[in-house]
Amino acid sequence: MTIDTHAHLEMAEFDNDREAVLARAWEAGLAAIVTVGTTLPDCERAVALAERHAPVYGAVGIHPHEVKEIAAGTYERLRQLARRPKVVALGEIGLDFFYDHSPREIQLRCFGEQMALAAELKLPVIIHDREAHSETLAVMKAYAGRVRGVLHCFSGDWAMAKECLALGYDLSIAGPVTYKKSLQLQEVARRMPLERMVVETDCPFLSPQSHRGKRNEPAYVVETATFIAGLRGIPAAEVQRQTADNARRLFGF
Ligand code: NI
Repeated sequence: MTIDTHAHLEMAEFDNDREAVLARAWEAGLAAIVTVGTTLPDCERAVALAERHAPVYGAVGIHPHEVKEIAAGTYERLRQLARRPKVVALGEIGLDFFYDHSPREIQLRCFGEQMALAAELKLPVIIHDREAHSETLAVMKAYAGRVRGVLHCFSGDWAMAKECLALGYDLSIAGPVTYKKSLQLQEVARRMPLERMVVETDCPFLSPQSHRGKRNEPAYVVETATFIAGLRGIPAAEVQRQTADNARRLFGF
Protein backbone atom coordinates (compact mmCIF):
# COMPACT_ATOMS: atom_id res chain seq x y z
CA MET A 1 0.00 0.00 0.00
CA THR A 2 1.81 3.10 -1.16
CA ILE A 3 0.85 6.75 -1.36
CA ASP A 4 1.32 9.12 -4.29
CA THR A 5 2.11 12.34 -2.41
CA HIS A 6 2.01 14.62 -5.44
CA ALA A 7 -0.43 14.32 -8.33
CA HIS A 8 -2.36 16.87 -10.39
CA LEU A 9 -5.58 14.92 -10.92
CA GLU A 10 -7.55 18.17 -11.25
CA MET A 11 -5.72 19.06 -14.47
CA ALA A 12 -7.47 18.90 -17.85
CA GLU A 13 -5.20 16.01 -18.93
CA PHE A 14 -7.46 13.77 -16.80
CA ASP A 15 -10.82 15.20 -17.84
CA ASN A 16 -11.66 12.30 -20.16
CA ASP A 17 -10.83 9.38 -17.88
CA ARG A 18 -10.29 10.61 -14.31
CA GLU A 19 -12.42 7.86 -12.74
CA ALA A 20 -10.57 5.13 -14.69
CA VAL A 21 -7.23 6.61 -13.62
CA LEU A 22 -8.36 6.49 -9.98
CA ALA A 23 -9.62 2.92 -10.37
CA ARG A 24 -6.21 1.84 -11.72
CA ALA A 25 -4.51 3.55 -8.76
CA TRP A 26 -6.58 1.58 -6.20
CA GLU A 27 -6.02 -1.62 -8.24
CA ALA A 28 -2.26 -0.98 -8.12
CA GLY A 29 -2.50 -0.92 -4.33
CA LEU A 30 -2.34 2.80 -3.61
CA ALA A 31 -3.72 3.76 -0.21
CA ALA A 32 -4.07 7.48 -0.91
CA ILE A 33 -3.24 10.28 -3.33
CA VAL A 34 -2.52 13.94 -2.60
CA THR A 35 -3.67 16.10 -5.50
CA VAL A 36 -1.93 19.45 -5.58
CA GLY A 37 -3.36 22.72 -6.90
CA THR A 38 -1.22 25.14 -8.90
CA THR A 39 -3.68 27.95 -9.70
CA LEU A 40 -6.69 29.17 -7.74
CA PRO A 41 -9.22 27.49 -10.12
CA ASP A 42 -7.20 24.25 -9.98
CA CYS A 43 -7.10 24.47 -6.17
CA GLU A 44 -10.90 24.66 -6.16
CA ARG A 45 -11.04 21.59 -8.43
CA ALA A 46 -8.46 19.72 -6.32
CA VAL A 47 -10.47 20.29 -3.14
CA ALA A 48 -13.72 19.25 -4.84
CA LEU A 49 -12.05 16.05 -6.07
CA ALA A 50 -10.72 15.28 -2.59
CA GLU A 51 -14.16 15.83 -1.13
CA ARG A 52 -15.68 13.32 -3.58
CA HIS A 53 -13.11 10.53 -3.05
CA ALA A 54 -12.23 9.37 0.47
CA PRO A 55 -8.60 8.30 -0.28
CA VAL A 56 -7.83 11.56 -2.17
CA TYR A 57 -6.49 14.56 -0.24
CA GLY A 58 -5.89 18.08 -1.48
CA ALA A 59 -3.17 20.71 -1.26
CA VAL A 60 -3.73 24.34 -2.17
CA GLY A 61 -1.20 26.93 -3.25
CA ILE A 62 -0.04 29.01 -6.18
CA HIS A 63 2.75 27.46 -8.27
CA PRO A 64 5.80 29.67 -8.97
CA HIS A 65 4.86 29.66 -12.68
CA GLU A 66 1.53 31.22 -11.80
CA VAL A 67 2.32 33.68 -8.99
CA LYS A 68 2.26 36.63 -11.39
CA GLU A 69 -1.52 36.06 -11.53
CA ILE A 70 -2.00 36.49 -7.76
CA ALA A 71 -4.62 39.21 -7.24
CA ALA A 72 -6.48 40.87 -4.41
CA GLY A 73 -8.38 38.14 -2.64
CA THR A 74 -6.25 35.21 -3.81
CA TYR A 75 -4.73 34.57 -0.38
CA GLU A 76 -8.07 34.98 1.37
CA ARG A 77 -9.59 32.30 -0.88
CA LEU A 78 -6.57 30.04 -0.33
CA ARG A 79 -7.00 30.52 3.41
CA GLN A 80 -10.67 29.46 3.17
CA LEU A 81 -9.84 26.41 1.04
CA ALA A 82 -6.94 25.45 3.30
CA ARG A 83 -9.30 25.18 6.27
CA ARG A 84 -11.44 22.50 4.58
CA PRO A 85 -10.97 19.12 6.30
CA LYS A 86 -9.57 17.26 3.26
CA VAL A 87 -6.83 19.84 2.66
CA VAL A 88 -3.56 18.58 4.14
CA ALA A 89 -0.88 20.99 2.87
CA LEU A 90 -0.06 24.31 1.30
CA GLY A 91 1.41 23.77 -2.14
CA GLU A 92 2.74 23.72 -4.48
CA ILE A 93 4.76 26.80 -3.74
CA GLY A 94 8.38 27.70 -4.38
CA LEU A 95 10.76 28.91 -7.05
CA ASP A 96 11.33 27.96 -10.69
CA PHE A 97 14.32 29.73 -12.22
CA PHE A 98 14.44 27.24 -15.11
CA TYR A 99 11.31 28.41 -16.92
CA ASP A 100 11.01 31.85 -15.27
CA HIS A 101 7.30 32.01 -16.19
CA SER A 102 6.90 34.60 -13.42
CA PRO A 103 9.54 37.28 -12.71
CA ARG A 104 11.99 36.11 -10.04
CA GLU A 105 11.30 38.98 -7.63
CA ILE A 106 7.58 38.12 -7.70
CA GLN A 107 8.38 34.42 -7.18
CA LEU A 108 10.54 35.24 -4.16
CA ARG A 109 7.94 37.55 -2.62
CA CYS A 110 5.02 35.15 -3.17
CA PHE A 111 6.99 32.14 -1.90
CA GLY A 112 7.61 34.06 1.33
CA GLU A 113 3.97 35.12 1.57
CA GLN A 114 2.77 31.53 1.14
CA MET A 115 5.32 30.25 3.68
CA ALA A 116 3.89 32.81 6.11
CA LEU A 117 0.38 31.56 5.29
CA ALA A 118 1.47 27.99 6.02
CA ALA A 119 2.89 29.09 9.37
CA GLU A 120 -0.37 30.87 10.18
CA LEU A 121 -2.49 27.86 9.19
CA LYS A 122 -0.05 25.34 10.75
CA LEU A 123 0.00 23.31 7.53
CA PRO A 124 3.02 21.56 6.00
CA VAL A 125 4.27 22.96 2.69
CA ILE A 126 4.95 21.22 -0.63
CA ILE A 127 7.92 23.02 -2.16
CA HIS A 128 8.75 23.22 -5.87
CA ASP A 129 12.41 24.07 -6.51
CA ARG A 130 13.83 24.03 -10.01
CA GLU A 131 17.24 25.56 -10.66
CA ALA A 132 16.80 27.71 -7.54
CA HIS A 133 18.41 25.56 -4.86
CA SER A 134 20.26 28.22 -2.84
CA GLU A 135 17.37 30.72 -2.98
CA THR A 136 14.88 28.01 -1.93
CA LEU A 137 17.09 26.98 0.99
CA ALA A 138 17.37 30.62 2.08
CA VAL A 139 13.58 30.96 2.29
CA MET A 140 13.29 27.61 4.11
CA LYS A 141 15.90 28.81 6.62
CA ALA A 142 14.04 32.10 7.14
CA TYR A 143 11.03 30.04 8.29
CA ALA A 144 12.99 27.37 10.18
CA GLY A 145 11.09 26.10 13.18
CA ARG A 146 7.84 27.69 11.98
CA VAL A 147 7.21 25.75 8.75
CA ARG A 148 7.90 22.13 7.85
CA GLY A 149 7.05 20.08 4.82
CA VAL A 150 8.49 18.33 1.81
CA LEU A 151 10.68 19.12 -1.18
CA HIS A 152 8.61 17.74 -4.05
CA CYS A 153 10.38 16.08 -6.98
CA PHE A 154 13.66 16.63 -5.20
CA SER A 155 16.37 17.63 -7.70
CA GLY A 156 19.28 18.75 -5.53
CA ASP A 157 22.48 16.88 -4.77
CA TRP A 158 23.37 14.93 -1.62
CA ALA A 159 24.79 18.05 0.07
CA MET A 160 21.49 19.89 -0.41
CA ALA A 161 19.54 16.83 0.68
CA LYS A 162 21.41 16.84 3.98
CA GLU A 163 20.64 20.55 4.49
CA CYS A 164 16.92 20.03 3.82
CA LEU A 165 16.78 17.02 6.15
CA ALA A 166 18.57 19.02 8.87
CA LEU A 167 15.93 21.74 8.51
CA GLY A 168 13.28 19.09 9.21
CA TYR A 169 11.99 18.70 5.67
CA ASP A 170 11.21 15.36 4.06
CA LEU A 171 12.24 14.62 0.46
CA SER A 172 9.89 13.37 -2.21
CA ILE A 173 11.36 11.20 -4.96
CA ALA A 174 9.61 11.23 -8.34
CA GLY A 175 9.80 9.23 -11.59
CA PRO A 176 13.05 10.76 -12.92
CA VAL A 177 14.97 8.64 -10.36
CA THR A 178 14.30 5.72 -12.74
CA TYR A 179 16.12 7.38 -15.66
CA LYS A 180 19.57 6.01 -16.43
CA LYS A 181 21.27 9.40 -16.29
CA SER A 182 19.79 10.48 -12.92
CA LEU A 183 22.90 9.46 -10.98
CA GLN A 184 22.77 12.38 -8.54
CA LEU A 185 19.13 11.72 -7.65
CA GLN A 186 19.80 7.98 -7.36
CA GLU A 187 22.57 8.76 -4.88
CA VAL A 188 20.12 10.80 -2.76
CA ALA A 189 17.48 8.05 -2.93
CA ARG A 190 20.05 5.46 -1.86
CA ARG A 191 21.68 7.40 0.99
CA MET A 192 18.85 9.34 2.65
CA PRO A 193 17.04 7.87 5.66
CA LEU A 194 14.05 5.89 4.43
CA GLU A 195 12.09 7.36 7.38
CA ARG A 196 12.30 10.80 5.70
CA MET A 197 11.32 9.79 2.16
CA VAL A 198 8.00 9.99 0.36
CA VAL A 199 7.30 9.08 -3.27
CA GLU A 200 5.20 10.79 -5.92
CA THR A 201 4.31 10.86 -9.59
CA ASP A 202 3.78 14.60 -10.28
CA CYS A 203 1.36 13.22 -12.88
CA PRO A 204 0.46 14.01 -15.64
CA PHE A 205 4.16 14.93 -15.88
CA LEU A 206 7.42 13.02 -15.35
CA SER A 207 6.47 9.42 -16.11
CA PRO A 208 8.89 6.80 -14.84
CA GLN A 209 11.06 4.99 -17.38
CA SER A 210 8.58 2.37 -18.64
CA HIS A 211 6.02 5.08 -19.55
CA ARG A 212 8.49 7.83 -20.37
CA GLY A 213 7.15 10.39 -22.85
CA LYS A 214 3.54 9.41 -22.15
CA ARG A 215 1.02 10.77 -19.64
CA ASN A 216 1.87 9.80 -16.09
CA GLU A 217 -0.73 8.60 -13.54
CA PRO A 218 -0.73 7.66 -9.82
CA ALA A 219 -0.54 3.88 -10.40
CA TYR A 220 2.97 4.34 -11.81
CA VAL A 221 4.31 5.44 -8.42
CA VAL A 222 4.74 1.71 -7.73
CA GLU A 223 7.46 1.58 -10.41
CA THR A 224 9.33 4.43 -8.72
CA ALA A 225 9.09 2.81 -5.27
CA THR A 226 10.27 -0.52 -6.70
CA PHE A 227 13.22 1.16 -8.39
CA ILE A 228 14.23 2.87 -5.13
CA ALA A 229 14.02 -0.48 -3.33
CA GLY A 230 16.43 -1.89 -5.92
CA LEU A 231 18.87 0.97 -5.32
CA ARG A 232 18.77 0.29 -1.58
CA GLY A 233 18.77 -3.51 -1.85
CA ILE A 234 15.58 -3.90 0.20
CA PRO A 235 12.14 -5.34 -0.62
CA ALA A 236 9.79 -3.10 -2.63
CA ALA A 237 7.08 -3.68 -0.01
CA GLU A 238 9.30 -2.10 2.62
CA VAL A 239 9.75 1.10 0.58
CA GLN A 240 6.01 1.22 -0.11
CA ARG A 241 5.05 0.71 3.52
CA GLN A 242 7.62 3.08 5.02
CA THR A 243 7.00 5.91 2.53
CA ALA A 244 3.25 5.54 3.10
CA ASP A 245 3.78 5.78 6.88
CA ASN A 246 5.93 8.85 6.29
CA ALA A 247 3.25 10.48 4.13
CA ARG A 248 0.62 9.90 6.83
CA ARG A 249 2.91 11.49 9.43
CA LEU A 250 3.81 14.42 7.14
CA PHE A 251 0.24 15.25 6.14
CA GLY A 252 -1.54 14.05 9.26
CA PHE A 253 -4.05 11.66 7.72
NI1 NI B 1 3.66 19.33 -9.39
